[in-house]
Amino acid sequence: MIGIFDSGIGGMTVARAVEQLLPDYSIVYFGDIARTPYGSKSAATITDYSLRNTEFLLKKGAEIIIIACNTASSVATEALRREFQVPIIEVITPAATKAIATTKTGRIGVIGTRATIRSGVYEQTICGQRPDFHVFSEACPLLVPLVEEGWTNKQETKMIIRRYLHPLKDKQIDTLVLGCTHYPLLTQLIQTRVGKRVTLIDSSVETAKYVRDLLTEQPQLIAREEKGIVTHRYFVSDLTDAAKTVARKIFARPLELILT
Ligand code: DGL
Repeated sequence: MIGIFDSGIGGMTVARAVEQLLPDYSIVYFGDIARTPYGSKSAATITDYSLRNTEFLLKKGAEIIIIACNTASSVATEALRREFQVPIIEVITPAATKAIATTKTGRIGVIGTRATIRSGVYEQTICGQRPDFHVFSEACPLLVPLVEEGWTNKQETKMIIRRYLHPLKDKQIDTLVLGCTHYPLLTQLIQTRVGKRVTLIDSSVETAKYVRDLLTEQPQLIAREEKGIVTHRYFVSDLTDAAKTVARKIFARPLELILT
């Protein structure tokens, strides 16, 4: 069983991609809606929440853990790997790897929460492999609450995106990493803003592909369920109408959210 957690509903973009690419695997998801957003909290708090979220998923039977949150991935991955024996998969490496493979100019933009951008993890990962590349990062702290509210196509959201992306305008990037699992819900608005010549990298899709490749190479990581008993369970620490609406939008079907 694949365990996936996020600070809220953004990680469901990863879960949806995993459902699509790995339909024969069971999923247990935990969205910490009661404590979202993580992006404006300290590294110590985010790490503490991530440890508890992982414990919860392991108790539910998870055999591998996907940290479906750039914020938690950027500050808590090492602590989780130290604490737990199961494979811990973060979302930064798959997105950074895809960005490196995609850019033609070596000029890459990254947008994310304050904690992700402050951690410098994308710069370290990208420039660690390609010191000749340039990474330009912008924190976009208002975007997560807007997505959680379901404001994914409002005029106000467009204005805020324009404001956040403005500093990237003169940087001549040709690739932009959506370094937050909430942002795929804003793909259209962001693409319109940056123009067609900039390729968007979705950390959700890249992470799902990474997990698919990992399980193809090491199928023994997960005891495969019999066909027909695949389960997809979505747990949340708070149940709000906005969460239900956004979850339905992500999965394009009504989704049962189970309150822990
Ligand atoms: N979805 C999380 C991420 O990928 C951010 C949400 C939050 O700030 O809680 O960074």
